[in-house]
Amino acid sequence: MNAANPSQALEHAFAVLRENDRGTYTVPTKGLYPFQWNWDSCLTALGLAELDEDRAWTEIETLFAHQWPDGMIPHIVFHVPSDTYFPGPNVWGTNRPTPTSGITQPAVAGFAAKRLFDRAKDKAMAAARCRALLPKIDAWHRWFYENRDPHGEGLVAILHPWEAGRDNSVDWDEALAQVPTTGIAPYTRRDTDHANPAHRPTKAQYDAYMWLVEHFRALGWDNSRLHDASPFQVIDPAFNAILIRACTDLAALADELGEAEIAARNSAWAQRALPALDTLWSAESGRYLARNRVTDKLIDSQSIGGLLPVFAPIPAVRCHAIAEHVQGLLKVLNYIVPSHDIGTAGYEPQRYWRGPVWLVTNYMIADGLRNAGELAVADRIARSSLELITKSGFAEYYDPKTGEPLGGGRFTWTAAMVIEFLRAQEAELA
Ligand code: DGY
Repeated sequence: MNAANPSQALEHAFAVLRENDRGTYTVPTKGLYPFQWNWDSCLTALGLAELDEDRAWTEIETLFAHQWPDGMIPHIVFHVPSDTYFPGPNVWGTNRPTPTSGITQPAVAGFAAKRLFDRAKDKAMAAARCRALLPKIDAWHRWFYENRDPHGEGLVAILHPWEAGRDNSVDWDEALAQVPTTGIAPYTRRDTDHANPAHRPTKAQYDAYMWLVEHFRALGWDNSRLHDASPFQVIDPAFNAILIRACTDLAALADELGEAEIAARNSAWAQRALPALDTLWSAESGRYLARNRVTDKLIDSQSIGGLLPVFAPIPAVRCHAIAEHVQGLLKVLNYIVPSHDIGTAGYEPQRYWRGPVWLVTNYMIADGLRNAGELAVADRIARSSLELITKSGFAEYYDPKTGEPLGGGRFTWTAAMVIEFLRAQEAELA
């Protein structure tokens, strides 16, 4: 579905949201992803709010209704059975009342709740919904620092590439090579029934993904044990920056709603994490680098994970370097921001998180740049995003050179981000 002008694009985006709405949650897209995904839902809530504020809050509340007793918010909630996705609830074996996966995803909920609250037309309803969500989001943030930062360095580790949401990023190649793949149960992938296998992770990557799932399942999904028992422990700058932004936003929201303790705690987490994040900055690469906690080495990978920290309140000098880098990409690409830099090791323009452009990461980078006063580059990213949907419809991701649509189609968070970009454009024109 192409979108030739803003009002058409908006109508198309709303149609995609309605199509993927299952009443109290949205699915990312039919077939390929038939359940509720954590960060998809939180970011989708921003687009839903343009249709119905009540429904937007419900999206996040449904996710948080499946919070684990230890505070974790799982990355998938399997609300209804479906055989179009692998690995399903039986493989995870988490024994939750409603089945869920056993790992988490980027902590965007605190950011989304604040943004919904700030924009709410019905402030009384928003305040009531936020008051109920605040302790739950706070408990999730605490869970991260307790379980994924056991030595208190201020940075949390992901234990599975799916936790970063950037499943097959080049960032994980080295650490994933240390994950054994022998002894895993035979399995049949379902993702390649719905999307071109050339756009998806490889079999070798899936084998490692499954080994980790089986390993954690054998440990009873006991989060107090998983970190140290995992051969894959990676400190992703993007994942940490998103958590820092969420803590900062939750602190501001809690402050506004008179929840002083939550405000103080989240502000302290963010203040401790920011200097720790800065240790990942690489002057040579002009971006942040991931660190393999197992080997204690920085990972030399020129990916979007090193640019996304602009979403957090990082120093202006870093924001400016990131803005210049993004601007420079336009000399060699038609569409920005690619998930991996063209011309660097590992770049594949059509394979998921190894090169394609995603609107959701564009949104977070543009938001951070805008907050830092880098307006021209933020606007350029928004324009590129809207050009992509105009040319190629609401795809999961896009080739940064040709703009070709890739992965799944009629994608929920792509639609939500289009609504966000159009909203910002309209506000600018007003
Ligand atoms: C998948 O199955 O592709 C997901 O990204 C895992 O969350």
